Amino acid sequence: MQTEIVDVDAWEVLDSRGRPTVACRIRLGDGSVGVATVPSGESTGRHEAHELRDGGERYGGLGVQGAVANVRSELTAAVVGLDAGDQRAVDVRLRATDGTPNLARLGANAVLSVSLACAVASAQSRRAPLWQVIGSAPRLPLPMVNIISGGAHASNMIDIQDLLVVPVGAASFAEAIEWAGRVRSATAKVADAEGIASALVADEGGIAARLTSNRAAVELLARGVEASGLRLGDQIGIAIDVAATHMLSPDGRYRLTAEDRMLDAQELVDEIESWCAALPILSVEDVVAEDDWAGWEYASERLGHIQLLGDDLFATQLNRLDEGRTRGVANAVLVKVNQNGTLTGGLDVVARAREIGYAPVVSARSGETEDTWLADVAVGSQAGQIKVGSTVRSERNAKWNRLLRIEREIGGFGDVPYAGSAALGPRAQARTALSEL
Ligand code: PGA
Ligand code: ZN
Repeated sequence: MQTEIVDVDAWEVLDSRGRPTVACRIRLGDGSVGVATVPSGESTGRHEAHELRDGGERYGGLGVQGAVANVRSELTAAVVGLDAGDQRAVDVRLRATDGTPNLARLGANAVLSVSLACAVASAQSRRAPLWQVIGSAPRLPLPMVNIISGGAHASNMIDIQDLLVVPVGAASFAEAIEWAGRVRSATAKVADAEGIASALVADEGGIAARLTSNRAAVELLARGVEASGLRLGDQIGIAIDVAATHMLSPDGRYRLTAEDRMLDAQELVDEIESWCAALPILSVEDVVAEDDWAGWEYASERLGHIQLLGDDLFATQLNRLDEGRTRGVANAVLVKVNQNGTLTGGLDVVARAREIGYAPVVSARSGETEDTWLADVAVGSQAGQIKVGSTVRSERNAKWNRLLRIEREIGGFGDVPYAGSAALGPRAQARTALSEL
């Protein structure tokens, strides 16, 4: 069999934070080779698949030699002889070999590296772009682009983790990225002029400004959009990732350190609702903590008219997404394949989201490499939206650049299948119309 897996290797490489991660290489019977590296989060949720780290002295305990060894031994033995063209069968075998529900024994980083390298090798064998192995009909995603960072990604200068733009009025992916880049530079200039700029470039390339409140960050972003010459509302929408799991204090309230305030879930949601009333915020992620179902229910009542995105809440797990659906919370799901552990597992979450009417948003992690498979996952799965970080730092731009190339290559064959603001569904249209009043 041409696409039979004949050889697997793995080694340690560095991610964008200088921490080790797993690289894997798979060779097939026809000589095709696939290499892939796995990302890693900082503001991780407790329902994510388990990332195996070595502990000890090397790299401050963050080494992945154990995960690498697991790829070279047990996982290699498990997949050699399998057909790389049958991704689901490979992923089922990987999961069964680990044997734990959250891949804690061999490590989700070990398992995912094999899963992804298999897909890349299979694409090589077919002489096809990776997105074609993932799905036959491509769709370029609407990007959600980080402009200002806080939380765990920016030394906690403010509490909210990401303030992003969604270029809803752009007609193509290329135009959307140009607009986002324009807003980032304009916002950096505004922060500079106001004397609040800091030299720090955050983990995902966002601006880390010295701000006295979280609301001030949203307002700075709005001023940045204005300064860019683009229109807030019909051209540029705002998105935020509160990452509230990481603000939770032991008494169940949320700590806004930047403002020296403690809020319960309802007060936090009310605070964000007041921002949404003033500005065209189209999407809010992790508005309360991952297990605060009551808080999520309240948020869904108050903010259900915009995109309410679950990251730590769903952790790219089908059972969590199904529970969310049953409880009627959120209306969109962040899909990070390393939260799940296999490529098929991540794609199943995209498919289920579509089935139940939740918007899927494919996402990078704060720790990334120069690898670009994520772009192809977004295109091939037709997820419609992607979140990668900002328009600086090469590990971010590697994904944007891959999408620019895919758009160019597909565009050469006719109409470019760009999702645009339609990916946000009727919620975006309602909010855009509102901001035009
Ligand atoms: P993480 O951040 O990769 O550090 O989890 C990304 C996010 O919260 O969306
Ligand atoms: Zn998040």
